[in-house]
Amino acid sequence: MEVIKTIALLKKRVKKAKLDGKTIGLVPTMGYLHEGHLTLANEARQENDIVIMSIFVNPTQFGPNEDFESYPRDLERDCKLAEPVGVDIIFAPSVEEMYPTDGGIAIRAGRQSEILCGASRPGHFDGVLQVVAKLFHLSEADRAYFGQKDAQQVAIIQTMVRDYNFPLQIRTIPIVREKDGLAKSSRNVYLTEQDRKEAPAIYESLNIAKEEYLLSRNVDKAIELAAKHINEKTNGRIDYLQLLSYPDLKSVTDETTHFLLATAVYIGKTRLIDNMIFLNKGVIQHV
Ligand code: PAF
Repeated sequence: MEVIKTIALLKKRVKKAKLDGKTIGLVPTMGYLHEGHLTLANEARQENDIVIMSIFVNPTQFGPNEDFESYPRDLERDCKLAEPVGVDIIFAPSVEEMYPTDGGIAIRAGRQSEILCGASRPGHFDGVLQVVAKLFHLSEADRAYFGQKDAQQVAIIQTMVRDYNFPLQIRTIPIVREKDGLAKSSRNVYLTEQDRKEAPAIYESLNIAKEEYLLSRNVDKAIELAAKHINEKTNGRIDYLQLLSYPDLKSVTDETTHFLLATAVYIGKTRLIDNMIFLNKGVIQHV
C-alpha cells in the first residue's frame, strides 16, 4: 500500500493504471476509520483492480462553529486498518494541496440539501460536493463507495453525478447494525449505559413507520406512530423524522416508488442518525 500526499503523484499512478486498462474504486473518507469504512473498502476491493482510499478532513464542509479543528486524525492508525482490507493507495493530501487557490467558483447543492441534516448545517453539502467532485476527477474512479447511513449525502452526490454526467458509478453500501438493530456509528461510544439501552428504539421506530405506511399509505400516521415509539421508549429528543421520496427527497405522492425514512434523534447528548430505504414491497439493500 502506498501513501500519496500530492495530486501530481496521484495523477501519475492513476494515468499508469488507466493505460494498463485497470478499473479504479474510490473510497472517500475523512479518516479515523471504523468498521463502516472498511466495509466500503472491502466492497471496492471485490469490484475493482485498484482501490484508492482518500483520507482528508475537508474544511469546506464544516460550519464555523463545528468541529473541524478537533476532528480526530490519525493517519498511521488508518493505514494499519486500511492495508489488510486491500487498499492499494491512500490519498492523504493537505488542505493547501487540495485548495491552493480560491477562484470563488462554488458547487451548490440544491433543494435536496435544505432539509433533514442540511437544515441545521447550511453549506455542508456544498462542501461535500466540492471535495467529492475533485476526488472523482483526480482518481478517475470507475466506482465510488458511500455508506447508506448518510442517505442524504448519497442522494445529493447521485444527483450531481447524474446532472453533470460524471463518468462513474456510485455504489451504496447498506447500514451495518448491532444485533439489536442500532446502526453502527463512531458516536455510539458516547452513549451511557442507559442511552445504549434506549437507542435501538430508533431503528424500531423506522420499522413501525414503514409497516404503517405500507398498510395505510398515510405518511402523517406513520410518522406519528414512529415518533410515539421513540418518545415512549427513550428520553431522547427527535431532531427530524421524515418519510420522503428517494433519491429526490420530495414529499411522498401516489407516484413515489422509492421511499426514504430518515431520522436524527438526540439520545442523551448524542445525536444519532438512522434511515431505511424501501420500495412499495419492502426494504431494499442496495440503491
Ligand atoms: O462522508 C464523509 O466522510 C465525507 O462527507 C466525505 C464523503 C468523505 C467527503 O468529505
